[in-house]
Amino acid sequence: MKTVLITGGAGFIGSNYVRYALQEHADWRAVVYDKLTYAGNLDNLKDVAQHFGQRYAFVRGDIADSKAVTAVLREYRPGTIINFAADTHVDRSLMEPGSFIMTDVYGTYVLLEAAREFKVERYHQVSTDEVYGQVLEGRSTEEDKLHTRSPYSASKAGGDLMCLAYHTSFNVPVTITRGSNNIGPYQYPEKAVPLFVTNAIDGIPLPLYGDGLQQRDYQYVLDHCEGIDAVVQKGQPGEVYNVGSGAETSNIDMAHAILDLLGKPYSLIQPITDRPGHDRRYALDTSKVRSLGWSSRHAFAQAIEKTVRWYVDNEWWWRKLKTGEYLEYYKRQYAGRELV
Ligand code: NAD
Ligand code: DAU
Repeated sequence: MKTVLITGGAGFIGSNYVRYALQEHADWRAVVYDKLTYAGNLDNLKDVAQHFGQRYAFVRGDIADSKAVTAVLREYRPGTIINFAADTHVDRSLMEPGSFIMTDVYGTYVLLEAAREFKVERYHQVSTDEVYGQVLEGRSTEEDKLHTRSPYSASKAGGDLMCLAYHTSFNVPVTITRGSNNIGPYQYPEKAVPLFVTNAIDGIPLPLYGDGLQQRDYQYVLDHCEGIDAVVQKGQPGEVYNVGSGAETSNIDMAHAILDLLGKPYSLIQPITDRPGHDRRYALDTSKVRSLGWSSRHAFAQAIEKTVRWYVDNEWWWRKLKTGEYLEYYKRQYAGRELV
């Protein structure tokens, strides 16, 4: 058995990856290490625990807690660490940047130190296209300079640079993927797509920032998981790989697609004051990861259709999340915003 430590594995992409990896690699044992912040949820792994009981373990802990990280490595001796753990929501990073720096920068450093001490065979960092900043024309390649504009993207860039430094300085076998926006099952409903889908199901307004003409590459989460897996298996240490579908969709078109699929009126769209420093467009050059044999398998139309269907069929999962802390956050984030 090959033991893989998957940090942040109780979140959206991490839980999809754990499910995918245990199906794909019969000789893997996945140890999920997760703090279970508001965005982490053991419901995301309920079926994994049922189907893969012997090959799955869960440990609750903080990646920024070096004693706890050391203890988990000592106990399980993973050959590979894949780090999904992060504070991930741009709007929250504008309200409270501190925890982003603690987890996304300092937490990454703690994991890298552990990877170095325990001589892991691979440390993989899951990063984001946001580190390139907005790209008004053309596509970002892995060699491009980082032009971060939000506390979230700056923290992620800090984590990436620390990974590359640990490769150069200490020969830690690090790889990095920079993914575009993911959509699919188990995404916390603060992010635009699950927020719009669940609001639309309930006939509540869809809060669209600014003119809604910002461009995103909304890729299906399983495509991203396959891209990460390809890099973990075949990527070269010290290298960065962009992972995205290559397609671009404006937020207004994304909202229209959701409303069309649900048979709801466009009048539910409520344009409101824009996000400060809102990046206008991201676009990735993905030729490097495609050279490893990976390709995106879902066009936007399929990805959004599968995503909407999942939220329609899985109200048990999201309805209880839209209470308590979520409602407090929702009020803070949206209540005072002007209609535009
Ligand atoms: P998420 O917010 O759904 O999940 C994050 C997970 O990390 C949660 O389970 C949370 O409990 C855990 N976590 C947070 N702080 C922690 C800490 N200090 N210690 C241990 N666990 C902690 O995030 P996601 O959307 O699944 O993103 C996963 C990774 O992928 C992140 O690194 C993110 O930057 C990156 N990414 C996300 C997207 C996207 O569209 N969602 C795109 C590209 C890259
Ligand atoms: O690009 C990859 C990144 O995608 C990841 O690194 C981040 O973790 C992830 O959160 C996501 O960041 P975005 O800011 O692009 O995602 P979000 O879902 O917050 O917003 C998507 C777009 O929709 C963005 O242009 C902002 C807009 N938006 C968002 C919200 C929450 C709205 O118009 N209204 C909203 O209420």
